[in-house]
Amino acid sequence: KKERNAVILAHNYMTPEIYHGVADVVGDSLQLAIEATRAEADVIVQCGVHFMAETAKILNPAKTVLIPDMEAGCSLAESITPAGIAEMRARYPGAPVVTYVNTSAEIKAESDICCTSSNAVEIVESLGAGRVIFLPDEFLGRYVAGRTAVEIILWHGHCEVHERFRAEDLRAYRESYPGIQIFAHPECPPDVLAEADYVGSTSGLIRHVEATRPERVMLVTECSMSDNVAAENPDIEFIRPCNLCPHMKRISLPGILHSLETLEYQIEVDPSIAARARLAVERMLEVGRGSGG
Ligand code: 13P
Ligand code: SF4
Repeated sequence: KKERNAVILAHNYMTPEIYHGVADVVGDSLQLAIEATRAEADVIVQCGVHFMAETAKILNPAKTVLIPDMEAGCSLAESITPAGIAEMRARYPGAPVVTYVNTSAEIKAESDICCTSSNAVEIVESLGAGRVIFLPDEFLGRYVAGRTAVEIILWHGHCEVHERFRAEDLRAYRESYPGIQIFAHPECPPDVLAEADYVGSTSGLIRHVEATRPERVMLVTECSMSDNVAAENPDIEFIRPCNLCPHMKRISLPGILHSLETLEYQIEVDPSIAARARLAVERMLEVGRGSGG
């Protein structure tokens, strides 16, 4: 890392040996995007999925941005194409397009503004529009719709990890573990979120654990995060249903070492796409650096 003058940015879903062992900065998608704009190192190693590395490259194009595994994708990013956005714009003329950052640069380039799970409501309301097209995450869109008067037009993308949680399982956990606090990520289905005591981005969930210090808690999100937070809070009991993100789990310590040794795999974004995508991401950063959710 020193030889390459590299900085390692790691998402909260990385395994503990990455999160606690080698990362310089950890965070949710919004924090990692902000850190990418500030990075002064020559090389950014993005330990997360492809759209996160692409966002770093879009925001700081002069840097060499590496991802240890090019195949680390995201089911949400896969769920929408430029033709899909064009279809929505044609169906709802004049409605601005708010795009979750879990998308490719090509999709961001076709959007008016981006959002993350920590600022989605704030971003939607910042537009002053009566209705907005929100894509691609249907469940995050439904969550936003429940917290704003703005009409939300939904797309049908889902996170393959969070869509697997079931409300009846959460109710069973409550019965088996009296006093348990349940904190959930807004990519979960609405009936799951209805069972939660708190809903927030991955960093929002961590902050809420640390602020409220429950005796026992369940984080309804990708399961490495509980390992990371549990290591720092040994007095809190974490109940852990384990849903792993197969894409996030492609990033490993040997893979990171390989990236640093070989400068593989470099993220490149077509400059004309990057310029338009940057506008949508920068508009987001101007509006909302996270409302703490
Ligand atoms: P956060 O922005 O909350 O970290 O979410 C990213 C993600 O991919 C969740 O599945
Ligand atoms: Fe995408 Fe879901 Fe994995 Fe997050 S957890 S990277 S939303 S597939």
